[in-house]
Amino acid sequence: MPDAPETTEPAVSSFSTRIREATAREHEEAENSTFITEMLDGSLGIESYRRYTGQLWFIYRALETHADALATDPVAGPFIKPELARTAELERDLAHLAGPDWRAELTPLPATATYAARIEECARTWPGGYIAHHYTRYLGDLSGGQVIRGNAEKLWDLPHRGDGVRFYVFEQIGNPAAFKREYRALLDRIGVDELEQRRILDEGKRAFVLNRAVFTELAAEFPARRPS
Ligand code: HEM
Repeated sequence: MPDAPETTEPAVSSFSTRIREATAREHEEAENSTFITEMLDGSLGIESYRRYTGQLWFIYRALETHADALATDPVAGPFIKPELARTAELERDLAHLAGPDWRAELTPLPATATYAARIEECARTWPGGYIAHHYTRYLGDLSGGQVIRGNAEKLWDLPHRGDGVRFYVFEQIGNPAAFKREYRALLDRIGVDELEQRRILDEGKRAFVLNRAVFTELAAEFPARRPS
């Protein structure tokens, strides 16, 4: 009797599938975090949204300050797309939400400072790690970000796709679903070996943990008004 065939190797998933699967649990936790849930169900006031938007400004400044320098990098370069840039949109939103002096009053939470510092470190020293942060933020903004926009517009009467929610409006991306497909194709063509791919997956998980830490500090600053 011939030996039973060796168990076949599991099919190797594409890198875009691997990063989605590696961060799926962390995504669920971020999506269901107390702060995001309470902000979006109206339990918190517009101040929570203003504070959250201010924190995003530090995060996107860290992502985008080094983008030009990374544009020629063989690994990170293909991901640098001007149509994703969010800093200018965040500045318009903050001017609307907090007034023209928004910058003078804006401070990063400790968790935001930690998160932004890690992004900058990756941007300066590790293009693969930078991609993990790029993916976590921009693909999220193109997806669940649209839910946040819809709720914010309704809850606080913000102009549809206008000042206050411009961060969520990608004017130069006509077809977000197609854009995400192309982005995933870029992930699948990432020219790094298996060890580096695993390091990037770990950094992706870390990116979600860093986001959650910001939500935790925001939740502490904005306790929901509960009936006494
Ligand atoms: C209100 C909270 C959120 C909702 C409702 C939400 C919802 C979603 C949905 C429906 C998708 C799938 C879209 C698709 O397959 O085309 C998605 C994808 C994604 N989200 Fe979220 N999300 C939320 C929060 C977050 C947060 C806080 C992050 C990270 C900071 C994040 C990062 C991502 C990423 C990276 C993807 C892309 C997954 C992939 O296809 O590779 N999301 N989100």
